Formats: sequence, C-alpha cells, structure tokens
Amino acid sequence: MKLYGIGVGPGDPELLTLKAYKILKGVDVIVAPRSSEEKRSRALHTVEEVIKERDCIVVEPVFPMTKDRAKLKLYWKKAREEVLAKGNGCETAAFITLGDPSMYSTFYRFLEVFNDRVEEVEVIPGVTSFSACTSTAQVPLVEGTEIVSIIPDVKAKNAMRVIESSDSLIFLKPKDLDKIEGILGNEKAILCVKVGFDDQELLSGKVSEIEEPGHYLSTLIVKKGRGKEPRDYTRL
Ligand SMILES: C[S@@+](CC[C@H](N)C(=O)[O-])C[C@H]1O[C@@H](n2cnc3c(N)ncnc32)[C@H](O)[C@@H]1O
Repeated sequence: MKLYGIGVGPGDPELLTLKAYKILKGVDVIVAPRSSEEKRSRALHTVEEVIKERDCIVVEPVFPMTKDRAKLKLYWKKAREEVLAKGNGCETAAFITLGDPSMYSTFYRFLEVFNDRVEEVEVIPGVTSFSACTSTAQVPLVEGTEIVSIIPDVKAKNAMRVIESSDSLIFLKPKDLDKIEGILGNEKAILCVKVGFDDQELLSGKVSEIEEPGHYLSTLIVKKGRGKEPRDYTRL
C-alpha cells in the first residue's frame, strides 16, 4: 500500500494545498483521527467538500488525548485493525492531519504502527496553525535574526530557558500562564482560537491579562517588545 501523510492546514478548506486536493480526489481510503467517539475529526471536516462526491472509504479511529501509554497502545491497535478491515485490498491510503504532519501530529506514530503494510510513503506539507494565526493577526512573527520558539507545554524540560531567550513565542493550547507571567507578563500577546473555522476568535492584551482558553484549538502568540510599536494588536 502507498500511504500519504497529508497536512490539511489549520481548518480553512481554502488553505488546503493543490497537491493535497489532487491526492484526496483519488485515494482509496482516508484515515482521519479524532479525539473521542463523540467528536468528529476536525481534519475530515476541513476536507469534506473535497471528498463529498467521492466514493472512498473513510476511517475515523479514536486517538484519545492521554499520556497513559498502555491505554494509547490499545487505541493504536484498534486503529490498525479498523483500517485493515475497512481498507482491505486498497492500494492507497491518506492519513489526514490538521496543520502540518511534522508538527505535533499523530501521522508518524500511525506510520510506525502500520509500517509492515506500507510499501511507499509520501508526506504532503500543510499550512501550520501558527502560520494561519500570524497571518490572521497580521503579525510579522520573526524578522532579521530574531528567534522563534514553539512551546507545547510551559512545564516541559527547558521551556523556561527557551522562553527567556527567544524573541517570539508560540504557545500551543496555552495553560499554566502564571508560570510565564514573571518573564512575559507585560508583553503584548494575541490569543488565536479556532483560526480558519467559521467561529474563529482573536483576543489581544498583555500576557498577564490573557485568560487560559477553554478550547483545544487555541494558540498564544507573543512577540517581545511589540508593545512599543505604533501599530498595535489591540485593533484586532
Ligand atoms: C497537536 S498540535 C497540532 C499542530 C498542527 N499539526 C499544526 O501544524 O499546526 C494542536 C495545537 O495546534 C494549535 N492549533 C491547531 N489548529 C489551530 C487553529 N485552527 N487555531 C488555533 N490554534 C490551532 C493549538 O494550539 C492546538 O492545541
């Protein structure tokens, strides 16, 4: 089987690449991960117009958001069985993921679990969620020799050191913001929620004023020293 890892972008269907579009129009099976039985795959939602008139097999395995390795292993096993059962005899499959497959996505984990069935792999990059956030907010994330860092968890090893030494920061699903207030409290920040979806939201203010977002699709962008510039985030 040939397996495609496809980044479908941040949620706006128009940000799907032409390459991804063409593959999704021809592939036999689409594998779209979701976080629970009750929820639909957001990546699938993004491509539904592209595949709606197609007669292809869609598998939506559940990959819960847990760090419990034993539990995850069971879900991966179940996902493998589901794809093998529904996609039996198929020649091509596409694993779709929000944003880009190399950025905190489950694609490479899926490839590991499915490796013995895969003869060829092709990875199609996608517009990352933070590119969509900075474009929507019209923020030049980094310029010249500035350094940007992505922080998936402020409690991660080295996170505080990186936060102190970077010019710009991208906090994924920001929480425990009190931990960074000492360093970034007075910096301007933009909280981007569900960017690319119909109900997207952008909120701006000092880091110390930003409340922890409830939605998983939330990204906090901080560009240090931005408060001194005349063109301010508050217009958003
Ligand atoms: C597991 S990471 C996946 C990142 C994705 N592969 C990418 O390239 O953007 C999920 C995090 O990305 C961010 N994210 C993804 N889509 C987003 C969106 N549409 N709006 C805002 N943040 C988003 C959120 O911080 C979310 O918690």
